[in-house]
Amino acid sequence: MKKFYRVLFLLILFVGFQFSSKAAEKVEYLKTDWSFKGPFGKFDRAALQRGYQVYQEVCSSCHSMKYLSYRNLVEKGGPEFSLEQAKAIAASFEVKDGPNADGEMFMRPARLSDKFVMPYENEKAAQAANGGAYPPDMTVLVKARGGGVDYIYSLLQGYEDPPVGVSLDDGVYYNKYMYGNKIKMSNQLSDGLVEYSDGTNASVEQMAKDVSTFLMWTAEPHLETRHRMGFKAIVYLIILTVLVYFSMKRIWSRVKTEV
Ligand code: HEC
Repeated sequence: MKKFYRVLFLLILFVGFQFSSKAAEKVEYLKTDWSFKGPFGKFDRAALQRGYQVYQEVCSSCHSMKYLSYRNLVEKGGPEFSLEQAKAIAASFEVKDGPNADGEMFMRPARLSDKFVMPYENEKAAQAANGGAYPPDMTVLVKARGGGVDYIYSLLQGYEDPPVGVSLDDGVYYNKYMYGNKIKMSNQLSDGLVEYSDGTNASVEQMAKDVSTFLMWTAEPHLETRHRMGFKAIVYLIILTVLVYFSMKRIWSRVKTEV
């Protein structure tokens, strides 16, 4: 009986913890069906390519992506642009190189091996251009925020008029999902803002989803490999369990009959 109470106590403790951690997440993020969630999840290539387009055409004027190189766009498990496409993308940017034989720095078209071109020279310049707020580097932003990809997806659609009684300074906007509800980034998305090359309708929801998918990949480029490895490991463990079970049976079979 004592044991029963002990188990009951642990059970209640466990359930209590579950509830309290749920309650701690005050904000309910917008839901959508991510293709990459779950143990078999994979990125939707088309969504990654569209997400790159949104990042490039909208976000990259303020947010850097400093850990990504143009060649990453070709790699398996990512947007998987063709080599030609990625070369063309890289070549549309200019990077500073040098010094040349005259000791001078010069500009040249970017190559696959170059990192994504930064929108500002440095952090101070970025702040100066954004009213003192720093647009964070986006490469691993999904990992740096509590709600992860759901948070970013929601944030992009979370702009609202401030409730009565809340006053906002110049350059500060009201966002349902931002910590403290005040954000120094204006609403970036509006229907039809980009023209998707694959013909998808560029609604705000669609762009938010695509760019969030892209940011999920930049933050976790090996997600698909990880899922595949996890699946293999589980199959391996199941086979091993069966083998061990039967060898155990066999090894002990004589002992049992003798008893
Ligand atoms: C005009 C410049 C500008 C553009 C364009 C822009 N942002 Fe921002 N963004 C900012 C600034 C500035 C901040 C910092 C806001 C703050 O700290 O209040 C920010 C912050 C963020 C944050 C972090 C919020 C947090 O939790 O701290 C996310 C996520 C974000 N931006 C996503 C995007 C996405 C996605 C795009 C493209 C669709 C985009 N931004 C385009 C300027 C910009």
